[in-house]
Amino acid sequence: MIEKLVGVIGWPVSHSLSPAMHNRAFRECGFSDWRYVALPVENAQVKNAVHGLRALGFVGANVTVPHKETVLPHLDRVSDDARLIKAVNTIAIEKDGALVGHNTDVIGLIADFTEHKIDLKNHRALILGAGGSARAVVHALMRMGCADITIMNRTKNKADDIAAEIVAIREDVKFRTASLNLGSDDPIAGYKIIINTTSLGMGDARGEMPWNSSLAFTKDQIVYDLIYNPEQTLLLRHAVLCGARAINGLGMLVHQGAASFEIWTGKKAPVEAMREAAVLGLS
Ligand code: ATR
Repeated sequence: MIEKLVGVIGWPVSHSLSPAMHNRAFRECGFSDWRYVALPVENAQVKNAVHGLRALGFVGANVTVPHKETVLPHLDRVSDDARLIKAVNTIAIEKDGALVGHNTDVIGLIADFTEHKIDLKNHRALILGAGGSARAVVHALMRMGCADITIMNRTKNKADDIAAEIVAIREDVKFRTASLNLGSDDPIAGYKIIINTTSLGMGDARGEMPWNSSLAFTKDQIVYDLIYNPEQTLLLRHAVLCGARAINGLGMLVHQGAASFEIWTGKKAPVEAMREAAVLGLS
């Protein structure tokens, strides 16, 4: 008998790896009465869908594109991270029915950096893109001790908005912004890590990259792409050819999912089983 329901709200959600990852985690932990389902929800139905979770007795949910930001006003409370990042990727429905929004992207990314033994203390970072996930990346980098962050975006004023928000709360971190059209004379050598948060490299933009291919990465640089499908974007391929360290976003996906699992169940997530399920789901 299924008594504990969890789901993912998004549009579209049919390609989401979360159902496979979480159902595997429930099995691994012997939670035979838990089930995770995909819940396709159109924009106009976000409020009804969120309130429906409570009505239907759900334990929790994930929230994905394009509802991570629009879900916020329909929740009873949000965590500090969700407020900072202005986006919710996890909802917990508490015993009294309160809908509580969380954001596990920051801790998910930090967990993956830590797993890859990436030390960013007092280093410089370059973020490509200034959408919803860039904000989570900025906070993760700052918590890892990054002292100097540059954000490049096609629409520069969105990068400026994120920088202004951070500068207001963290005077000690140096911020620069620029538009995303790298010239061959751009000084990129000083960045320890370059992180792609744009959608260039996946879906219809699979054949593109947010980088000028005449700019070579150096061997001591790390190129991290939040995209995990394809496994190796053109940007990561370029990084590998340059001899740099290339890492895709699968680890972040797994760790943000693990953190969501822990919020709902109060138990330690079986990270390796979740990773296995995600990899299987990609194949
Ligand atoms: P997410 O929540 O995944 O960050 P998003 O908020 O829609 O998604 O952000 C998408 C990012 O990809 C943005 O930085 C966007 O740039 P703009 O702010 O200029 O729109 C970037 N992006 C999407 N398509 C792009 C393209 N063709 N060229 C360059 N950047 C692109």
